[in-house]
Formats: sequence, structure tokens, C-alpha cells
Amino acid sequence: MEFKIQWFDRLPSTNIFLKERMAVESELPSGTVVAARDQTQGRGRRGRDWLSAANENLTFSILLLGNGDPRKLPAAAMAAAVAVAELLQAEGVPADLKWPNDVRVGGKKICGILSEGVSGGIIVGIGLNVNMRCADHIDQPATSILLETGERRNIDELLEKLLPHLAARLAEWEQGGFPKVRKNWEANVPSLGKPVTVRDGDSERSGLLAGFGEDGELLLQEESGTVSPVWAGDVSV
Ligand code: BTN
Repeated sequence: MEFKIQWFDRLPSTNIFLKERMAVESELPSGTVVAARDQTQGRGRRGRDWLSAANENLTFSILLLGNGDPRKLPAAAMAAAVAVAELLQAEGVPADLKWPNDVRVGGKKICGILSEGVSGGIIVGIGLNVNMRCADHIDQPATSILLETGERRNIDELLEKLLPHLAARLAEWEQGGFPKVRKNWEANVPSLGKPVTVRDGDSERSGLLAGFGEDGELLLQEESGTVSPVWAGDVSV
């Protein structure tokens, strides 16, 4: 997989920008990467905001075309989460994964991923907290590479280092969907086999995190012993 990076000083949201570009530029190639030094209206999963101060963090989106099967789409973000966790581990930050696609360090979120289906493919948007000095403005426990290591990182260099990890994991996903991503995904999920609660709007279900299905859905084993798939929600351990 080849990536072509375009940096912008300021964008409302790299996901929205890529979507809008697709509408006017029908030939936009797969692997197009749009990165913003300042993202003013970043969006998160489930309608939430993604807050990122200018020049502090990595915020970018990748266009992946030609993966028609919509059932395959959620696993693209899971493959990207594995890539980010691997980069962080290589940088000495002990990152792990929380379904569906959060990257965390010591239970605090360091990276969020928002994937959105577009005609003929998917946009995978990644927000990685790099040089953020304080997480008090964020409504959930959050951290950054700086907060974890005491060291500032060059954001451009970090993106360059992340791309080979993304290329490897997304190539696996392209070849075989979640079943190809599963091994590296599960190896980084500490809550596997543990009791969890999944909240989705008003609904709340608890049980053991039994594993992940063929499309990356979470498999919850409830008290009765029944294992049922969960397609959306927030997991807490
Ligand atoms: C989440 O955990 O809720 C997902 C956060 C995704 C944030 C990234 S930053 C780059 C891209 N552009 C956006 O507006 N959102 C994603």
C-alpha cells in the first residue's frame, strides 16, 4: 500500500475534508492521506467532538478504496488501531487496545479512530495525542506521548514512522478482513476473557469478553452462557 501525504495548516476535520474532496475529485487515489496541524472541528465516534490543540497532536485521515464489502469496513479501523499500538510500543509507550478501536496507555485513551464508509471505500481518521501537556479538558481519562514519557515528539516524523505499520496491517485487512487482523488485535486486548460492561445508549449488558467475530464484532458471554455479538457500544472493564 502506498500513501501520499498532504499536510494542511488548518482544517475543520480531515475526515470531512477528504469526503468533500472525493465529491469533486473522482480520481482521488486510494492511500491519499490528509493531515492537519490544527483541526478545529474534529469529530469522534458516536457524535462526540475530538479536541486537539493546534500543533500538539497528530490528526489525519486515510482514503482506502476498492473494499466493496461493507461488512469488512469496521475491521479497517481495528487494523489501524493495531498499527498505532505497535508504533507506540516501538517508541517505548506501553499501549494496548480497547474495542472497537481505542488505543490506550494505563487505561487512558491516547488515540481515537473514526472510520466512515464512502462510495467505493472507507475513510479512516486517526487522532493521536502526541505533545498534549494536560488532559483536563477531555471528558474521559486521556493521555499523550508527552504525558507518558516526558518527551516531545516531532509530529511529521511520527506520521512517517506510523505509515509502514499502517501499510502492513491494512494490507492484511485488505487481503482477509478481520480474520487476518485478529491475531495482532487480540494480542493487544487486555480485557479479552475478562468481565466487561457494554453500554449503547440506554442499553447496558455485562458478561465475559469471549472474543471477536468474523467481522470484528465483540462476542459477549452473558451469565446464561449464551454468547452474543455486539456491534456497537462503549466497553468498560
Ligand atoms: C473517537 O475515539 O471518538 C474517534 C476520534 C477520531 C479523531 C480523528 S482526528 C482525524 C480525523 N478527523 C476527525 O474529525 N476525526 C478523526
